[in-house]
Amino acid sequence: MTAAGSGSFQDGRIASKRLMMLVALLLVSCCLGHGFGDEDHVEVEGIGSSCMENERRALLAIKSDMYDPGDRFSSWTGKDCCGWRGVACDNTTGHVTKLDLRYPYTYTYTYTYTYDMWDVLYDVETIGASKVNPSLQELKYLKYLDLSMNNFSHAPVPKMIASLVHLEYLNLSNAMFDGPIPPPFENLSNLHYLDLQGWYYDDFLHVDDLDWLSRIPSLKYIDMSFVNLSKAINWFYVINSIPALEVLRLSYADLPYVPSPLPPFNLTAIATLDLSWNSNITSAMLRWLSNATSLENLLLSGCGSLTIESLQVALGALSNLKELDLSFNSLEGEIREILNNVSSRGLKHLDLSSNQLSGDIPPGSLRDLEYLDLSWNSIVTLHILASLGNLTNLRHLDLGYNLISGEIPPTVGDSVRLEYLDLSNNGINGKIPQAIGNLSNLLELHLSGNKIVGWIPPSIGNLTNLVYLDLSYNNIVGWIPPSISNLTNLVTLDLSRNNIVRWIPPSIGNLTNLVYLSLSRNNISGYIPETLGTLIHMEELFLSNNNLSGQIPMTIGKLHYLQNLDMSYNNLSGQIPTTIGKLHYLQNLDMSYNNLSGQIPKKI
Ligand SMILES: *[C@@H]1O[C@H](CO)[C@@H](O)[C@H](O)[C@H]1NC(C)=O
Ligand SMILES: *[C@@H]1O[C@H](CO)[C@@H](O)[C@H](O)[C@H]1NC(C)=O
Ligand SMILES: *[C@@H]1O[C@H](CO)[C@@H](O)[C@H](O)[C@H]1NC(C)=O
Ligand SMILES: *[C@@H]1O[C@H](CO)[C@@H](O)[C@H](O)[C@H]1NC(C)=O
Ligand SMILES: *[C@@H]1O[C@H](CO)[C@@H](O)[C@H](O)[C@H]1NC(C)=O
Ligand SMILES: *[C@@H]1O[C@H](CO)[C@@H](O)[C@H](O)[C@H]1NC(C)=O
Ligand SMILES: *[C@@H]1O[C@H](CO)[C@@H](O)[C@H](O)[C@H]1NC(C)=O
Ligand SMILES: *[C@@H]1O[C@H](CO)[C@@H](O)[C@H](O)[C@H]1NC(C)=O
Ligand SMILES: *[C@@H]1O[C@H](CO)[C@@H](O)[C@H](O)[C@H]1NC(C)=O
Ligand SMILES: *[C@@H]1O[C@H](CO)[C@@H](O)[C@H](O)[C@H]1NC(C)=O
Ligand SMILES: *[C@@H]1O[C@H](CO)[C@@H](O)[C@H](O)[C@H]1NC(C)=O
Ligand SMILES: *[C@@H]1O[C@H](CO)[C@@H](O)[C@H](O)[C@H]1NC(C)=O
Repeated sequence: MTAAGSGSFQDGRIASKRLMMLVALLLVSCCLGHGFGDEDHVEVEGIGSSCMENERRALLAIKSDMYDPGDRFSSWTGKDCCGWRGVACDNTTGHVTKLDLRYPYTYTYTYTYTYDMWDVLYDVETIGASKVNPSLQELKYLKYLDLSMNNFSHAPVPKMIASLVHLEYLNLSNAMFDGPIPPPFENLSNLHYLDLQGWYYDDFLHVDDLDWLSRIPSLKYIDMSFVNLSKAINWFYVINSIPALEVLRLSYADLPYVPSPLPPFNLTAIATLDLSWNSNITSAMLRWLSNATSLENLLLSGCGSLTIESLQVALGALSNLKELDLSFNSLEGEIREILNNVSSRGLKHLDLSSNQLSGDIPPGSLRDLEYLDLSWNSIVTLHILASLGNLTNLRHLDLGYNLISGEIPPTVGDSVRLEYLDLSNNGINGKIPQAIGNLSNLLELHLSGNKIVGWIPPSIGNLTNLVYLDLSYNNIVGWIPPSISNLTNLVTLDLSRNNIVRWIPPSIGNLTNLVYLSLSRNNISGYIPETLGTLIHMEELFLSNNNLSGQIPMTIGKLHYLQNLDMSYNNLSGQIPTTIGKLHYLQNLDMSYNNLSGQIPKKI
């Protein structure tokens, strides 16, 4: 299946855990690319202070080495550089104090479903190479420097940045620098924000000795995710000596193991800690964290050797926790063993996916929860669904890939804030309750790969915000309810591999945003409606293995973006429509096992 776009399908399910990891990883580093000059500088030049000529010339030199595919620097004309986009000056001295050259990076991604596997393809924008012009040194009064998301194509991190000793904010994240972070950075003794996050796939930044960091006591924010710290043996001691630290992100940093005993906990201001995807994070470190009472966001996915016992100790003490991510660990045991300690507090975001957890959510707990991901575990009971009625703040619920059996209770309709509901690939039987129509905020509904029987409830037509509906691989009978034509925001509709009969309602032509439609492997009969031709965004259309008869409508030629068309194994007859020749993007066409005559147009 395909759903092009950037953003709305982040949670689509990928059948291989490795792929999921990769997606998580890419999203982490990709979604950051919003606007250059988003919060356009407010500190414009004050009365009587216009731009210094030497700084203006320096800026022009810097610009001349930066990749610019469009109008990035269109405002960089005239004498008054203080008014240029991304530039700001001190309103009394007139010196340039801010330079924001963040590149407005964009990407799109596409999910495809082939051979029962989800796959994701990234269409990453190629960014032309830039260089850091030595004139940067002229901007001696810079407090704010953002070079993130540019492509400095494996150049070393420029040492001269260390001479900009007034810097309070330095962002070199995702800028494709290579090699070591230069130790002279210790001269940046005014830094509050240091973002050096590496590029996710071909950056090779490393820090072999972190001692210099401890000489910047003003640091509040450090991001060295994707920077190789495997030789920074004393990382833990250095970090622990930065008392003002509020945010620490060291995901995918290959952190070395820290032998016990650990030093006394000193990070009294820490609010966000992301140490995910480091295999040497130990249970001893978790116990140490139990003194981190200010912690709000704790991200420890993919840390390998954590034990439930140590989690209990830590979580019991973290009374301000709002976000907890323990996905992709090998946690084995009952969910309640983890949750008993965090329950009823302000936890909003809980991700325990891809572990080996079983059991239930303790009743009455987690009332503030907005996001719950328990997918890819060993949950058997359906009580978990029954208790949903109490989770009235829930927006995102993923229970996919568990062993849940039983029926979806009507109380599912009480979780009216739900935007994302995934119960796919379990053993759920029974009917889809009519009450599902109450979830009027729902954007995605994933129920595929279960044993669901009965009809599709007509109330589904009330889910008018739905973008994604997947009921495939079930035992659904009856016909497609005409109310489905109400779901005009649908991009993906998959009803394949069920026992749906009767015809395709002509009103399906109302779903003009559809990009993916699969009705294959059912018992649908009758004609293919002409109205299909109004679905002009369609890229994938699968109607195979049904009892469709009559002619293929000429209107098929209007599906300009169609890439895959499968109508095989039906009773279609008559001439192959010549309009198929208009489908320039077509990659796969299967009309075999029908009674068609005529020729495939030569243009194909
Ligand atoms: C640094 O830049 C990235 C991407 O441009 C952004 O997402 C991130 O929030 C910035 N870091 C800080 C500390 O502002
Ligand atoms: C100068 O900027 C500061 C903050 O950046 C502001 O508080 C002050 O009012 C400004 N002064 C003038 C004269 O614009
Ligand atoms: C960065 O620039 C180099 C050199 O021009 C190029 O080979 C590479 O593909 C670019 N990287 C990206 C992600 O655009
Ligand atoms: C860092 O500071 C030291 C001592 O103040 C100085 O000798 C050195 O030149 C500085 N390094 C850089 C790159 O500015
Ligand atoms: C980090 O660098 C070391 C060599 O210094 C290397 O052995 C290791 O594989 C690197 N880690 C990653 C994740 O690339
Ligand atoms: C803890 O922080 C203080 C400053 O608040 C610092 O002086 C001390 O050295 C730190 N202790 C450790 C063990 O790093
Ligand atoms: C840390 O983890 C790496 C794997 O990322 C492993 O190869 C290494 O042996 C570990 N180091 C220690 C000291 O445990
Ligand atoms: C946590 O704090 C308590 C006292 O508040 C102290 O006794 C204990 O040693 C601390 N633990 C760590 C690991 O710092
Ligand atoms: C909802 O919460 C109440 C009170 O906390 C509890 O008694 C009840 O069992 C819960 N209901 C479900 C279905 O979990
Ligand atoms: C939902 O749809 C059904 C049938 O289409 C309708 O009777 C009902 O009023 C609608 N509203 C709600 C809130 O379910
Ligand atoms: C279509 O949606 C509207 C709300 O937008 C609702 O009132 C109506 O009942 C729905 N029709 C059907 C057939 O579900
Ligand atoms: C949906 O399609 C039917 C038949 O094609 C049409 O009569 C009806 O007006 C459409 N409804 C909406 C809401 O577009």
